[in-house]
Amino acid sequence: MADLRQEIQRRRTFAIISHPDAGKTTLTEKLLLYGGAIQQAGSVKGKQSARHAVSDWMEIEKQRGISVTSSVLQFEYDGKCVNILDTPGHQDFSEDTYRTLMAADAAVMVIDAAKGVEAQTIKLFKVCTLRHIPIFTFINKMDREARDPFDLMEEIENILGIQTYPMNWPIGCGKEFKGVFDRESRHILAFQSDGKANGVKILDKIEAELGDPSLDELITAPLHEKLAEDIELLDGASYDFDMEAVQTGRLSPVFFGSALTNFGVEPFLKEFLRLSPSPLPRQSGDELIEPAQNTFSGFIFKIQANMNKAHRDRIAFMRICSGKFERGMEVTHVQGGKKIKLAQSTQLMAQDRATVDEAYAGDIIGLFDPGIFSIGDTLCTGKEKIQYAGIPTFAPEHFARITQVDTMKRKQFVKGMEQVAQEGAIQIFRELNGGMEEVIVGVVGVLQFEVLEYRLKNEYNVDIRMQKLPFEHIRWIENEDLDPKDLDLTSDTKRIEDLKGNKLLLFTTPWAINWAQQHNEGLELSEFGNV
Ligand code: G4P
Repeated sequence: MADLRQEIQRRRTFAIISHPDAGKTTLTEKLLLYGGAIQQAGSVKGKQSARHAVSDWMEIEKQRGISVTSSVLQFEYDGKCVNILDTPGHQDFSEDTYRTLMAADAAVMVIDAAKGVEAQTIKLFKVCTLRHIPIFTFINKMDREARDPFDLMEEIENILGIQTYPMNWPIGCGKEFKGVFDRESRHILAFQSDGKANGVKILDKIEAELGDPSLDELITAPLHEKLAEDIELLDGASYDFDMEAVQTGRLSPVFFGSALTNFGVEPFLKEFLRLSPSPLPRQSGDELIEPAQNTFSGFIFKIQANMNKAHRDRIAFMRICSGKFERGMEVTHVQGGKKIKLAQSTQLMAQDRATVDEAYAGDIIGLFDPGIFSIGDTLCTGKEKIQYAGIPTFAPEHFARITQVDTMKRKQFVKGMEQVAQEGAIQIFRELNGGMEEVIVGVVGVLQFEVLEYRLKNEYNVDIRMQKLPFEHIRWIENEDLDPKDLDLTSDTKRIEDLKGNKLLLFTTPWAINWAQQHNEGLELSEFGNV
């Protein structure tokens, strides 16, 4: 028990979020470099896929199993066992990121120092705040021309509505970026560059106090003076450091650095590991499940198909929430109502898949899935059934009518569509009382249509016809006994149902939603589907 507690206490599980190009991949890579998980920068493959989502997704399809896209990377640092949940950068796959955030205990928000808070940062930040997890900010690319650090703080506070506490403060930027002032130790960490811009090597740092003449060679007098002024202003004006506020996601500790050149990455990692929480209790019904208990439990937050094409298998990613996982253990699959043996489990390190024999609360493992799991499912041991809250489905924003070209392949078509839907990439609807030969598919990002087409062709040998539909809003009808045919709706509103038989409406404009509500007394519409 003491061992279990210790193992769990030393775990840190977090996701890195950012607007594409802010430097998430580079930072991830550098963290792995410090953790010794990779030997050389440039080894993380997720990057390309983030950049050119579809084409690389196809490429990934060829080399599945080594890709780290939206999977997990584990390494040891300073006695801590660190799990980084990687997330795809392209916004069309943001649903995947939302779900991944459900499995994290903290988030690191990477911001480009020249650009500040960007659109995708805002979206992802909102999901983090829903869960009240701690959010740490890394202001990246200080080796380039950057905006004024005070401006950046203000922007984060105003746009995102979170208080900030700079843990360190940059000394210059661009070519003049010389390092950071650490506010707690009151030391300057001046970095010596090895002259290479790509920061492949871990750099030495020099520590000195503010005003130390030995820094004169590194920092010019005007920079030194400016720093002293900034610090005085900061000490007087910024919020106090409040650990409780950090842990509930109300105050974000902010770090400045440059992932590319390694400036500030290691101090960030150290502080982050010190301040971020070990696995937290999770809610199951009315009960809080403590991580360090003997009962093992976890939930599935992501399913990835055909990692190994020859076997047509799927990997279900599980976040362990309590107890210890041992390979071969028997667990209850709560939603399936069955006992199953977890014989095949994998963990994805930077480049390899390794079999996992043991894992603890906080860890993420990949389970072989013969097609029985759905996103949000709970697995547990023990007599008492644990059931973690489901993962909400996000309302799709793009819709298309999908028909199979060759009607003889009905079985493959239905199977392929259902499997892709189970992975959460698409949502399937049909006309009221309609069949499966023609369905309406909803997605959060349009690229997912292309992925669907590609996968049906390549994995199921099915060609489809796709007709984009003009709808942009979807609402679930909450009233149970209501027949949608009785509703008074605008002519461009469509009545549909999901595969569970829930009734829905598709609208082209918010105006049409209003119209429906005004002309149908008591009509209750919801933006989220049943989980
Ligand atoms: P992302 O995952 O958030 O999309 O960003 P990624 O790390 O891929 O970084 C985007 C671009 O920004 C890359 O350049 C990367 O080298 C650069 N970058 C990341 N961190 C820093 C930094 O601290 N300073 C500077 N100057 N640049 C940084 P690229 O030219 O698009 O890619 P590459 O050809 O260099 O690989």
